[in-house]
Amino acid sequence: MLDRMQLGSVPRKHHIQLRGPEGELRYEECFTRDGFDGPYTILYHLRRPHTQRQIADLAAQRTAAAMDIDDLVGVTVDDVDRIGLARERDAGDDIGVEVECHPAVDLRSALLCDVEFAQGDYVFVPRGLLHRFLPHGPQQWFWFSLTGGVHVPNQWRNGVGQLRMDAPYCHRDFKRPELVPPRDEGIRALVVRRGGAWHGFSLDHSPLDVVGWDGTVYPWAFPILAFQPRVGSVHLPPTWHGTFAARGALICSFVPRPVDFHPEAIPCPYPHSSTHCDEIIFYCDGNFTSRRGVGPGSISHHPMGVPHGPHPGSYEKSIGVTRTDELAVMADAFAPLRATPAALAIEDAGYQDSFV
Ligand SMILES: [Fe+2]
Repeated sequence: MLDRMQLGSVPRKHHIQLRGPEGELRYEECFTRDGFDGPYTILYHLRRPHTQRQIADLAAQRTAAAMDIDDLVGVTVDDVDRIGLARERDAGDDIGVEVECHPAVDLRSALLCDVEFAQGDYVFVPRGLLHRFLPHGPQQWFWFSLTGGVHVPNQWRNGVGQLRMDAPYCHRDFKRPELVPPRDEGIRALVVRRGGAWHGFSLDHSPLDVVGWDGTVYPWAFPILAFQPRVGSVHLPPTWHGTFAARGALICSFVPRPVDFHPEAIPCPYPHSSTHCDEIIFYCDGNFTSRRGVGPGSISHHPMGVPHGPHPGSYEKSIGVTRTDELAVMADAFAPLRATPAALAIEDAGYQDSFV
């Protein structure tokens, strides 16, 4: 959650009447977190927002969710954290950790509002928000489905919630939603993934009927290259690259930057034994000076307790280097990550030996 936003028509106070030009009543929908104690957004609909009917053939609906997402909207409310890689939607090769069917996506999302985003953006969709992704062209996504949400780390906020000036990004870096006028694109199907099961519903009317909203729960996008990296005299730990916090996990951005400037610095990441975190890295672009055999699209997973570090020669070769052009996303997770059968099926069996 960033800060409060208000778009479109809202009444002068919450929970009072909002009427249209002909005096017709609008319908509130309170979209809340943590029961009624957490962040919330109040939406205003042209029609009652809860008139969906159950569809019996859920298996077919699930298939449709993967293959024909243009005509569906979806909601995810789950109790398991998942991290994965999604490729073209018809490739059938989603991989990852506790991964489930997840449509590969592009670039214009959400029904209640639109968020424009582009290659290299983090895209945040709040849990339970009615949304869709409109794909155009082949894509690859590293995605997280996190039950505790994704947040700006507390240390980047001041006492009133504003991003501090020493935070690694500012409010203006975030791409925010724009309200789109009510419209009917013929969407009448809704898929809800809850607790690992898929539920299908039909809608009596177009869900694209929001005329206004007010709150802190909304989708946004953040370009990873807007992250302002820190550089130290000697090598800084990954926590300095922390970008977003999740329950039991930290998401870090490694972006192009100058490297350590002490005259005797060793810029390459030091070998380490992280005994309380699993580490998963998605390599987006650039050269990864410490590793061989990884490139854009690769994922590495280093379970807690297993020492790892630079590949042979990388440590020594980094001395005197002044810049890195790596672009990668890492998650440190305090709970062990379990690879899915799909992820195990593409494991590089020689990866461990590459450290020798
Ligand atoms: Fe590591």
